[in-house]
Amino acid sequence: MPGIYEKLIRPAMFSLDAETAHELGLASLRIGLGTASARRFAAERYQIDSMPLAERFGLKFEGPLGIAAGFDKNGVVVDQLAALGFGFVEVGTVTHRAQPGNDRPRLFRLPAEKALINRLGFNNDGAAAVAERLRQIGRDCIVGINIGKNRDVPIENATANYLAAFEVVHPAADYIAINISSPNTPNLRELQQSDNLDELLSSLQRRNAEISPKPLLVKIAPDLGESQIEAIVDSCRRHKIDGIIATNTTLDRTGISSEDSTRIGAGGLSGRPLRDKSNGVISTAFRYSKGSIPIIGVGGIFTGDDAFEKIAAGASLIQAYTGFVYGGPSFARDVNAGLGRILAERGFASLDEAVGSGI
Ligand code: FNR
Repeated sequence: MPGIYEKLIRPAMFSLDAETAHELGLASLRIGLGTASARRFAAERYQIDSMPLAERFGLKFEGPLGIAAGFDKNGVVVDQLAALGFGFVEVGTVTHRAQPGNDRPRLFRLPAEKALINRLGFNNDGAAAVAERLRQIGRDCIVGINIGKNRDVPIENATANYLAAFEVVHPAADYIAINISSPNTPNLRELQQSDNLDELLSSLQRRNAEISPKPLLVKIAPDLGESQIEAIVDSCRRHKIDGIIATNTTLDRTGISSEDSTRIGAGGLSGRPLRDKSNGVISTAFRYSKGSIPIIGVGGIFTGDDAFEKIAAGASLIQAYTGFVYGGPSFARDVNAGLGRILAERGFASLDEAVGSGI
């Protein structure tokens, strides 16, 4: 039975330009769950079903499903997202200096495909403002901060620019995600190549050890061949990276009509069409690393079944963005409940037992 979100709110939101609707969504969360008592009320309704997790990279997660980077780029609704049932929030991508991103329109819906295409280009308030905002809030969940490169910094100077952002966000983050896979910052994905990646990871990890070690994760693209994924896993191992986030949006437009593709233009595709591709990357990384590096699985999760598939492929945490846009406020609760049901039906005593069970 379609609920009030599907019947009333989503059609109203979808009649607006996609980015305007996103801004309205953020404002509604901020106002609607703006007080501690409103958040407590929501948290009771959207309680994370009991799915106790072992620690992941030394952190205790309240639930396996997080909100993926890009939804709360500036860390303005972290506690509100936790109240809706997300076990963790990845803020960002944040760059060292604030930047406006690409010209609008730059976010598009493809409802028939349950997908989005975006070319936002890291619009964000900058590392210092976001870190300060996060310092001031209560924090009802684990908060990761995802960092990227300013657009005007050439790729040869990327390391210094990442280090500058890293330095500023480090005190405010429970973990830091290094984004080397957005398709909307020119040449960023070149950082996935071994030489570049080794330089970047060794510098960040060295600084991390000097300040106070926090989990460092690397976020990778879905548009990689098997040997490229293996080379990234090797590099992550060399530099003692704590986890891999797989995956970012895809440049592949398979399943999207050429009319839509041409009308919308450049950008990364997320949602349903990305799901299987992301699962392929997760299972390759899991198999090759023999489960030694925790994987956060992201791409096309709409249901508990989608979440389970990612866990069976080797993810030990999961994230979603597009599914939340289509599913509304009950999305995290629905996915958590569905996942709990599937685990019980299949006889798993815990989520941890199911990780990689499909490999
Ligand atoms: C994103 N994503 C993203 N990822 C990232 O590392 N930094 C970012 O700033 C953004 N920004 C962003 C904006 C929008 C509008 C979308 C739809 C996505 C990618 C996101 O975190 C995720 O990896 C993909 O969207 C795949 O997951 P879903 O959306 O299919 O669940």
